[in-house]
Amino acid sequence: WPRSAKRDEGSLTIGGADVRDLAGEYGTPLYVLDEEDFRARCREYRAAFHDGDVHYAGKAFLCGAVARWIDEEGLGLDVCSGGELAVALAVDFPPEKITLHGSNKSIAELTRALEAGVGRIVVDSYEEIARLGFLADKLGKRPKVMVRVTTGVEAHTHEFIATAHDDQKFGFARSSGAALEAVRRTLELTQLELVGLHSHIGSQIFDTDGFEVAAHRVAELLVAIKHEHGVDLPELDLGGGFGIAYVPGDDAPDPKRLADNMRRIVAKECESYGLAVPRLVVEPGRAIVGPGGITLYEVGTIKDVEGIRTYVSVDGGMSDNLRTALYGAEYTSVLASRVSEAGPMLSRMVGKHCESGDIVVRDLWLPDDLAVGDLVAVAATGAYCRSMASNYNFVPRPAVVAVRDGAARVIVRRETEDDLLRLDGEVTR
Ligand code: LLP
Repeated sequence: WPRSAKRDEGSLTIGGADVRDLAGEYGTPLYVLDEEDFRARCREYRAAFHDGDVHYAGKAFLCGAVARWIDEEGLGLDVCSGGELAVALAVDFPPEKITLHGSNKSIAELTRALEAGVGRIVVDSYEEIARLGFLADKLGKRPKVMVRVTTGVEAHTHEFIATAHDDQKFGFARSSGAALEAVRRTLELTQLELVGLHSHIGSQIFDTDGFEVAAHRVAELLVAIKHEHGVDLPELDLGGGFGIAYVPGDDAPDPKRLADNMRRIVAKECESYGLAVPRLVVEPGRAIVGPGGITLYEVGTIKDVEGIRTYVSVDGGMSDNLRTALYGAEYTSVLASRVSEAGPMLSRMVGKHCESGDIVVRDLWLPDDLAVGDLVAVAATGAYCRSMASNYNFVPRPAVVAVRDGAARVIVRRETEDDLLRLDGEVTR
């Protein structure tokens, strides 16, 4: 739950705003983001990595307001598409503090990044190294480049969000020598300035050993690069992936401990081979924006499936939170519009979409006097919910409201059916 979450006269308040007022004013489903929670987490990561850089991973959730908060809190930004880059540039985010990622960036995306003067481009394939070299030459630019390396670390997380084992699409494998070959090809192109290596092992990771092993392995590569090419690469980006608590018992890594361990491992490896210690960069997304967000829904139907459980249908579902259906993610939820003394009822919170996998919270206890019209709040939906939302079943995507000091403002407006119909070639409106 956001740090500001409180029970005030029975109903839940976030950032001093009562959820009943928010639902009344902005409708449901509604994403609510606690601005102060977001900013506080930015500051904690910055303090932990005070001698390095923290780049917020925009894929977790990005809009103009968030880009501004990031800038005000002194973080950089990681974008992985032309669209994310466009959001940042639209609010004048400093381009030199942007890193562009992506495993198949288009020529248009690379061109735009070069023209805007983004700070770093992380290359992910041999084709891209050549393509970027060609474009940089053509545009008369010399971008700073990092090579993405897969370290062979098997992160303990869902298969779809683990990214450092060899058999997946990202990066250059360390084990096969591809990483060193990518470095060689990048160094060969004088129009590219190789500044470092990048590693991202996966997402929603609690066990910090994986980060430490990865840090050690990329530091070893730096040593090999020094040996082969005589260069000290000045930067090392260890990616994001730091887990957050979704359900009671989840234990999120502490940023300071994480930073201290990464720093120690990299410094030890580099110093013992006489290398300059590189500047560390990390890219947390979920850990910054996840905990401060909630989703508010209104209960529409309550169906008791005899002797098994009660299905509580809310007015959103897999179009605003795909994570349960896609990854089997766990969430927790509470009755938010009032307090209840009633006993617990084994429930499954489901959405309004046309499939039985449309589950928001698989198993939870809700009070057994739950009624149609009650508001329920799902915790920790700040990351990868709005950013992965869809229009499945022609459902417009919900608004995002930021709350702070009792005031609320819309930072992403709710879509309307007209917005969707406007895309239809046969409909004139
Ligand atoms: N850096 C890179 C290069 C990444 O690929 C990612 C996430 C991050 C940073 C940020 O990771 P975070 O700190 O947010 O875990 N849709 C999935 C998560 C996919 C993450 C993809 N890359 C989910 O909902 O769990």
